[in-house]
Amino acid sequence: MSDRLKAMPNDLRAFWMPFTANRQFKQAPRMFVSASDMHYVTADGRKVLDGTAGLWCCNAGHTRPKITKAIQDQAAELDYAPAFQMGHPAAFEAANRLIDIAPSGMDHVFFTNSGSESVETALKMALAYHRVRGEGQRTRLIGRERGYHGVNFGGISVGGIVTNRKMFGTLLGGVDHLPHTHLPEKNAFTRGEPEHGANLADELERIVTLHDASTIAAVIVEPVAGSTGVLIPPKGYLQKLRAICDKHGILLIFDEVITGFGRLGTPFAADYFGVTPDIITTAKGVTNGVIPMGAVFVKGMIHDAFMTGPEHLIEFFHGYTYSANPIASAACIGTLDTYKDEGLLTRGAELAPYWEDALHSLKGEPHVKDIRNIGLIGAIELEPIAGQPTKRAFAAFIKAYERGALIRTTGDIIALSPPLIITKGQINELIDHIREVLRMID
Ligand SMILES: Cc1ncc(COP(=O)(O)O)c(C=O)c1O
Repeated sequence: MSDRLKAMPNDLRAFWMPFTANRQFKQAPRMFVSASDMHYVTADGRKVLDGTAGLWCCNAGHTRPKITKAIQDQAAELDYAPAFQMGHPAAFEAANRLIDIAPSGMDHVFFTNSGSESVETALKMALAYHRVRGEGQRTRLIGRERGYHGVNFGGISVGGIVTNRKMFGTLLGGVDHLPHTHLPEKNAFTRGEPEHGANLADELERIVTLHDASTIAAVIVEPVAGSTGVLIPPKGYLQKLRAICDKHGILLIFDEVITGFGRLGTPFAADYFGVTPDIITTAKGVTNGVIPMGAVFVKGMIHDAFMTGPEHLIEFFHGYTYSANPIASAACIGTLDTYKDEGLLTRGAELAPYWEDALHSLKGEPHVKDIRNIGLIGAIELEPIAGQPTKRAFAAFIKAYERGALIRTTGDIIALSPPLIITKGQINELIDHIREVLRMID
């Protein structure tokens, strides 16, 4: 490694870190300087087991050779090509390769640079789709409480996380929210999909009755809500949402930024639940997190609705300077090759029962009030310290890091999503770290 990459900076002030307790961090920095497969290496040379695939994105683990080489080769060959009115081969190959693994009927891809941008793109597509079909009065967007759809204005408007919304004014107008599906009093310690709560989808009928279907463009939900602590859909819930959307001509958008690319043991959550939405938003795992990229999958009928009018005119006034950037496109192809070679889009299904048992072995440990799991996702919900929400889980995060495991916490919930290459031995190691940590913290 070069000295520049290893060197510890002596001044941490300039970088205002995202979603971080900046002052706490800068007093006791946690720096990663390298990574390989299932591990990070810290600036002081310790190995840390990755229990979160970075930020739910490094599904194939770290510094994987095919991805690294694809990026290196592309950077040396074609660094950038204009994204508007020009193309390059890797962009088309990446789109074709993505369609090959997408749920059937999703046959076009629009590229972005992040999950947040994928969400904005999907919401704008939904509005414009209705308008090009002569139903421009369908302007309402329906999200869900406790939903996370990134940090841009559309995403926080349909999202349902108070801290992400309350500082930022009135947000988008014409947005309504479904209730969240988290019912701990009925579903605590459920393995997989909970029994109770499918009826919460009927709230969509109530919203439709209030506003009239003719005003509603789309419903957006995460099939499994990740960022608010792993909220797994009750059995039958997503099927009901699909049926109600169909009945009223409303588009259904699945935000699969974390569930896409094998996280549940199927390529997409749509496959896992047997429910195909009209639009799927993705990012993260599309390039194994290595280069920023997002991909929005759409059904043919949506794409085709735009393909009218004179052929020299732009059909959809939307896009980014870096949509399908050559290096991101190469990273996507290298990632899909790696997933394919190693069967990673379905490996989670083989590991899921072992993962489930390991996680639920933490029942009865100090502070644990619920455990939830699906595919290779897990959550351990802790009893908060009275009057100091989030403090206990944050203490667990710090202790786990010191012991050699990277976990993620949101509120007082530990959320786990290891790379899909994890071994059974490493699952044991991760869970043992957490067991020890729970016994150590107040
Ligand atoms: C479901 C979902 N949507 C959108 C996003 C935003 O993605 P990004 O941080 O790449 O903008 C995330 C990020 O975690 C997510 O989990």
